[in-house]
Formats: sequence, C-alpha cells, structure tokens
Amino acid sequence: MAPQTASIHVFPSHRLNPINRAIYSGFTEHMGRCIYGGIYDPNKSLLTPDSLRKDIISTLEPLDIPIFRYPGGNFTATYHWQDGIGPVEHRPKRLNLAWGGQIETNEFGTNEFIVWCRDHMHAEPYLCLNMGTGTLVDALAWIEYCNATGDSYYAKLRREHTGHDRPHSVKYWGLGNEVWGPWQIAQTSDPKIYAETAMQWAKAIKLLDPEIKLVLCGSDGMQQWDWEVIRQYIQPATMSDLGVNQPPLVDYVSIHMYTASEDHYENVFAPLAAERAIETTSCLIDLACVENKVPMAQLRPTICFDEWNVWDPKRAVGSTGAEERYTLSDALAVGVWLNVFVRQSERVSMACIAQSVNVISPLMTTRDGIVKQTSWWVYGLFCRFVKGHRVNFVVDCGTYRGSTKPDWLRDARGTIMRWLDVSACTTDDGYCVVCVVNIHKEQDIQADFGGVPSATEVAVYTVTGENIDVNNMDGEEKVQDKLVVIM
Ligand code: AHR
Repeated sequence: MAPQTASIHVFPSHRLNPINRAIYSGFTEHMGRCIYGGIYDPNKSLLTPDSLRKDIISTLEPLDIPIFRYPGGNFTATYHWQDGIGPVEHRPKRLNLAWGGQIETNEFGTNEFIVWCRDHMHAEPYLCLNMGTGTLVDALAWIEYCNATGDSYYAKLRREHTGHDRPHSVKYWGLGNEVWGPWQIAQTSDPKIYAETAMQWAKAIKLLDPEIKLVLCGSDGMQQWDWEVIRQYIQPATMSDLGVNQPPLVDYVSIHMYTASEDHYENVFAPLAAERAIETTSCLIDLACVENKVPMAQLRPTICFDEWNVWDPKRAVGSTGAEERYTLSDALAVGVWLNVFVRQSERVSMACIAQSVNVISPLMTTRDGIVKQTSWWVYGLFCRFVKGHRVNFVVDCGTYRGSTKPDWLRDARGTIMRWLDVSACTTDDGYCVVCVVNIHKEQDIQADFGGVPSATEVAVYTVTGENIDVNNMDGEEKVQDKLVVIM
C-alpha cells in the first residue's frame, strides 16, 4: 500500500509550559508479583544486601523515574503500616483482602520501600493513606514516623528501626485510594462525607508537617464524584485556613483510568478519553475556584493522574496478579497515553504508570532475569528524551472514522482522530523532540517536517514490529527501539 503523506510543523521556539518530570512517575503496590518477586525477592541471587533485585534497579535507573507511589492501590484500604516496621521476625502475617486473600508477610514495609525508592531509585516516595479501615490516628502516626525530626515517640521508633537519625521526609501523601469504588473495603460512597473527612485529615496532616503535598481522591475525572469532591473541597477555608502564608490543604486532585480493547483502533485511540478527562477535571477545578471565590493563581490544585495504563481486568485478572502480555498495539496505546500527558502537561503535574514491575507493567521478572515488554520501549523513550518545555505544533493528516472505546469519544472528538498522534518539546540542552505515533495498522505515513532547521542532525528512534499483535513475552524482543541518525 502506498504511504500516505502528512505534514507536521513544529514551533521549537514557541515554548508553552514546562513539563513536570513527575509525569513519568511509577507505582508499586502489594499486588501480585510487584513487590514480592518483583522489586524484592529474598530467594534469588543477584540481590542487594536488602534483598532487592539488582536487575530491576539497574533497568529502571536510567529512566530517572522521579516519584514512586506505594503501597497501593486497593491494598491501601486494609494496610496497617505498623505491621510492616520493626524486626521482620515479629511482623504479623495478614491476609491481602484486596487481592485474593493470600498471605501478606509484611517482610517489605515502609523502611524497605524508602531504601528501594530513595537509595536505589533516587526517587521521591509518595505514600497512600488508608482511608478505608484506617483512622486519622494511624495516618498521623505514620507521617510522624516518616517525617518527624524531634523527640516524639514515632520519630524515636524510626531511628531505632533504621539505625540513623535521617527522617524519610516523605513529601507526597494520598488521601485514600479509589474510596468511591464498590470494590473497596470500607467504601465511602458519598462524596460529601469523603470531602469532609479528607478536609479534617488534611488539616491535621498540614499541622504536623506543612511541607507535605496532599492528593485528593478523584474518580476518572468525569463523574459526579469528581465534581462534588472538588466543589466541596475547594473553598477559601480549606485552601488557606491556616493563614495567608500557609500552604493550601490540598495540592493535587487524582484521576485513575485504564484503557484497553481487542480492537486495535479502539485500543490505541482510547487514551484520548484520558485527555478529555484531564480537560474536564481542569474545568471542574476552575469552576469550583470561581464559584467559591478561591484565588486560582495562588491555590489552584493541579491534576495527579496517579494510575494509568493499558489494562483489561477480565484478560489479566487482579487477584491472579494482572500480568498483561503487551502487544505492539498496546505499546502504541502507551505512546498515545504519554503524548496526552505531554500535551496536557500544563494541567497534569504528576502521573504514575500502574504499575512499575510485573503487575500491568512494561517490565517483568522471570526466574533468572527480566523481560522488557513492548510498552517498555515507548515508556523508556519518553522518560529519557521528552522533557523541558512543551512546544506548539500543527499536524495535517488523514483521520479515523470508526468505532471508539468509550463510545462517547467518537462524538467528543468529532473528526479530530488523526492517524498521527503527536506531542513535541524542546529540552533544556537545546534539542527539539517530536513524538509521533502512527496509529494506522496498514499504512506507512510519510510526514514532512517543518519548523526544524534543515541542516540539523536528526536522531530517529522507531518502535515497531512485524504486526500489531506481536509481544515480547516469549523470550524474544520482537519489539524494541531502533535508532537511525540522519545527517
Ligand atoms: O493498579 C491496580 C489497581 O487498579 C489498583 O490497586 C486500584 O487502585 C485500581 O483499581
């Protein structure tokens, strides 16, 4: 089939906004083989002295992932952090009720996670508080344990456990996880009740440590829940109750979304629904600021998309570990997901891929090594190269006119479902980076590039494969990135 032609004009000097690197953040939950058998595995060779897998560390390290969310996810709703501290032999074994009721040994807990995250990944930890079966007393104690520097009970206990004086200084804390979901243990179905409770928790947390950044629990960004919680929460009182020079009580509003379809086009276009969700949530935040007379410039919370990926929970069931086998089609969908975060980087200041190892993850462990799934190569390229400032561009190419998942995406986008999905940036060291996903499964698309000086040396990384169904899980890297330098 003859290639289609298209044109992409980039405006490298038209910088729009800085891209927060936190859009490449990760997520490690006590689910399936993410922690046990993933980042931590005392039964394997090639471990650090802390029983952390060196191969996972050395593979993730070059991506310079800025933040990792922990310990869940749904696991959070029954997690009692005190089970995971102190001498390992005294830690209680519990049932992991969120994910099939298997035994949670608690061998890996707060201090192990902080060592993995800070010392090995050089990343910031983001801890999610239990707003299911947990209490504010537990939450405050956990924050004191992690962050307090004085002579208080939990600060002393931390020193006793870690053997040093340095606090963990955990800056990011989540006010519960998907508390609205019927699958949650101790679900809160009324957004007003959640908003009121979250406000009381936030007030106490910011008194304990005003440096903390809090994430309010949203839904998929387009539900009544999102509006009610945002509207209730964004009040002058909750935003700066503690005085003019005090930080607001909430800093981020979260969104979660997973996309998937057996149909290639539905699959790869689906992340555009997340783009709509970001735009909608952002409008809800603005509306709440206007309605409730909250000064936007100073106090407006931003969006933390703290769970996203390609996942079909019927195909890769949560209670059996959700080990997706990603195809080239899924890798392209991840490319669109990441383009969305770059295009929306003015509104999204953090996004966490769910998850970082084994569970719906680009990176898998085997008995003796690791497998980089198809989506790894796309995620890796974005983490390594797409940074600095988002810049403007114009695309002219053919459009898709078929079905979408969700259905409403078709109507919401009108005819603007282009075969080429694009984002662009300029890096601080002077490179112009253009990310192009060709969604068409049969046609090559030759794009003329405008806006880039013609004498420029261009490095082209391509991620492709024999067909859109290939995956890397059978021991061969059928999909990976390939570099060509054009002088
Ligand atoms: O990431 C897997 C699960 O998906 C998380 O535990 C939960 O928050 C979401 O429903």
